[in-house]
Amino acid sequence: MSLKDFFIALSENQFLNNNAKKYGLKMGAASVVAGTNINEMIKSIKELNSHGISCTIDNLGEFVHDKAEATAAKNQILAVIEAVHETGVDAHISLKPSQLGLDIDYDFCYENLKEIVELADRYDIFVNFDMENYARLQPSFDLLEELSREHDNIGTVIQAYFFRAKEDIEKYKNYRLRIVKGAYKEPSEVAYQTKEEIDRNYIELLEYHLLNGKFTSIATHDHNVINHMKQFIAAHNIPKEKYEFQMLYGFRRDMQLELAKEGYNFCTYVPFGQDWYGYFMRRLAERPQNLELVVKQVFNK
Ligand code: FDA
Repeated sequence: MSLKDFFIALSENQFLNNNAKKYGLKMGAASVVAGTNINEMIKSIKELNSHGISCTIDNLGEFVHDKAEATAAKNQILAVIEAVHETGVDAHISLKPSQLGLDIDYDFCYENLKEIVELADRYDIFVNFDMENYARLQPSFDLLEELSREHDNIGTVIQAYFFRAKEDIEKYKNYRLRIVKGAYKEPSEVAYQTKEEIDRNYIELLEYHLLNGKFTSIATHDHNVINHMKQFIAAHNIPKEKYEFQMLYGFRRDMQLELAKEGYNFCTYVPFGQDWYGYFMRRLAERPQNLELVVKQVFNK
């Protein structure tokens, strides 16, 4: 088992997930999670906004199998939307359908999402549906399509490791899309496995959506991709209001500030809450060097 597979397996371990919720932000998670409650999260966002960086807020949690838990998550996201509206911070919402009941019942999940999207629409706040693993991909697109019949403040994510990503990006080009490499472990029947193949597809998808799509969030920490896209954007005169760069909270902070300083639209993905464990383990799987963050955190105490 590779180190990557090891951390992905840990991220999916229900027992460890449940226990982690009881113990605040541990194991270095505090450096990549912006607090456990709305007040702490808004404080972090104000700080990022002061550098000209906008934010997308993720109320941590996923793979919920209990209706009461999904309803509590919905209420928490509604409270986040109210807090964004009241404080006037520059931020929108990212959410995971599996936190809102996708694994329990499609219609139940739809109703939860509808409430969230409606409130956000009333305040002119954008809502992004994060994409999870392959089994949840098509139902998430279905939810997006159903809700977009009445609301245009929603968009989603295209994961470049999937073979079907090219078809999806063509189909959903009139949506605001975040394009990523893909974070979950997927079988070779549905997804590219090598870094070379994924990177090649990633660049192709970004270029396609920048030229043909509504709005592109270039979500990566990969400086090679970022440098390539900067050149592509300049060569094709892509207007600023058509794209932004995105990175995760706590990663490559200097580069985040630098891109904002250079005048690019920049958005930081800000996770917060008790349910930090799965998110944190996936970050370790992507880049075992992230363990450095853990070590620093432990010794700085
Ligand atoms: P990758 O991990 O391929 O790294 C490439 C190179 O960049 C590394 O070799 C290294 O040189 C450099 N690098 C990367 N990270 C670094 C760091 N921290 N410090 C220094 N150098 C570094 N996934 C998903 O499946 N669904 C989703 O909804 C989302 N949403 C999402 C939002 C945002 C804002 C981001 C940034 C990412 C996601 N992802 C995601 C995760 C995404 O799919 C992917 O797993 C990670 O971004 C890791 O891939 P990268 O493109 O960042 O670089």
